[in-house]
Amino acid sequence: MSSLGKFEVLDHPLIQHKLTIIRDKNCGTREFREVVNEIAELMAYEVSRDMPLEDVQVETPITVTTKKSLAGKKVVIVPILRAGLGMVDGILELIPAAKVGHVGMYRDEETLKPVEYFVKMPENMESREIFVVDPMLATGGSAIMAVDALKKRGAVAIKFVCLVAAPEGVKALRAAHPDIDIFAAALDDKLNENGYIVPGLGDAGDRLFGTK
Ligand code: PRP
Ligand code: URA
Repeated sequence: MSSLGKFEVLDHPLIQHKLTIIRDKNCGTREFREVVNEIAELMAYEVSRDMPLEDVQVETPITVTTKKSLAGKKVVIVPILRAGLGMVDGILELIPAAKVGHVGMYRDEETLKPVEYFVKMPENMESREIFVVDPMLATGGSAIMAVDALKKRGAVAIKFVCLVAAPEGVKALRAAHPDIDIFAAALDDKLNENGYIVPGLGDAGDRLFGTK
């Protein structure tokens, strides 16, 4: 039986400060993009804290010794398109050898239900450490469908990493996938009648890519 995943808000002062910058409606595309990546990089440091290590022998200029090295297969970063793409480069700064899979999904504006349009993953997902990334966890529909798609392909060790989470989305994702860990930079108040997070930061995809 798999163990119960955790929900953690990573509220380091630098993360809080940077999140406030991108919440500002006057933050332009260029700065928004830069700061999203910076936050993702800071979050990756915490999210990777429990990555498994193994003993390896290393020869220093002085002697041979046994020290720790990351064990197992490489990390896979899985952005939920489009907005998740905004977090990939930041995480790659910290884990440059990570592979990147993609899940294409958009939220139908009427029903708020996610529609899947693309999935492309590396091989051997069952033995990899997977970080699903998306700036926004709103109703949770997109995250749930993305994790469904990954589990269908054999993935087991899955962490979901977002910038802003709504309580509704956290509850729904934990109910659908109780085994995965969820990390957010902030837990906001609620969803509004259009399914946007309040106070939130608006439409993350549009703000990242300059669309409307
Ligand atoms: C946004 C966001 C999430 C989703 C969250 O994507 O990036 O993927 O909405 O909402 P949910 O939790 O209610 O499913 P959107 O559908 O706007 O697509 P985009 O990234 O292409 O703009
Ligand atoms: N998707 C977004 O981009 N922002 C929200 O507030 C909710 C869903």
